[in-house]
Order: sequence, then C-alpha cells, then structure tokens
Amino acid sequence: MKLFSANLASLSELYTAELKKALDLEQTITKALPKMIEKASDPQLKQAFETHLQETEIHVEKVKGLLAVDDSETCKVIHALVSEAEAAMTDVTDPIVLDVALIGAAQQVEHHEIAVYGTLKAWANLLGRSEDFAILESIEADEFGADELLSDISDRVNSEAPAIAA
Ligand SMILES: [Fe+2]
Repeated sequence: MKLFSANLASLSELYTAELKKALDLEQTITKALPKMIEKASDPQLKQAFETHLQETEIHVEKVKGLLAVDDSETCKVIHALVSEAEAAMTDVTDPIVLDVALIGAAQQVEHHEIAVYGTLKAWANLLGRSEDFAILESIEADEFGADELLSDISDRVNSEAPAIAA
C-alpha cells in the first residue's frame, strides 16, 4: 500500500505531501465540529468547540497558504478519529457521558494535530523555511491551547458523569 499518491525523492517533496495531509486534516475537522457543537450539552464545552471551529477555519487558510496549490492528500488518521467520535454520538445515551466522550475524542484529535505540526516544524526547519516554521508554530499553539482548555473542562465535566448506569 502506498502512503502517498506520488513517489517522494526528497525531504522537500515529503514536506509538501505532509502539508497536503494537514490540509485534509483541518478540512475534515471543520466538517466534524458542527455536529459535535450540536451534540455537546455543557455550555463551556459547546463554546470551546465553537472557538476551535473558528480557529480551524483559519488553519485551513494558513495551510493552503503554505502550499503552492490547493491540493490535499487523505489523512487516514483523522478519518478514523472522526468515525470514532461519530460512533460515540450514536452509542452514548447519557448527555454528560456523551460530553465526556466528545472531550476524549477531541483531545485525541488535538494530540494528533500537535504531532503533525511538530513534525512539519522540524522539516520546515531542516529545509530552512523560517516563514513556514512561524506559521506552523502559530497553528500548533492553537492546538495546545484547545487541548489545555479541554483538559480544564474535563476536570469538571468528567466528575459529573454517572459512574454506573442508574
Ligand atoms: Fe487545527
């Protein structure tokens, strides 16, 4: 199974291919978040998802700006993570337990994004692309911020969830 749609012979080509996957990653999140906003019950969680949707729309534009062409590569990881979040939205019946599940799903996405942007920053650095590095770092900072906010919300919401079925 080929990892990318084209053969890659240089770090520069690998970097561009990974940026194309980051574009699919961000675009997929903009499609997934509206349903998570709708399904979240806790007002602070809803607000956190709304804020991150706005940030993610900016991430799409920033990643497009780093690519010479508007072209994406499928990021298999985000599609798997989104399908797990969708399964939770179908299967979990208690609204607080669903909030707990949505926080968990969103944090798994954030951690993947942090890994992706950390990798891209390292490659941009190796390629001497300091302007790219700064943009990637600004996106990564938003992902760290979103993850920390979700941790704060989970400290409160997780303790409100029923531990066993009533
Ligand atoms: Fe993002």
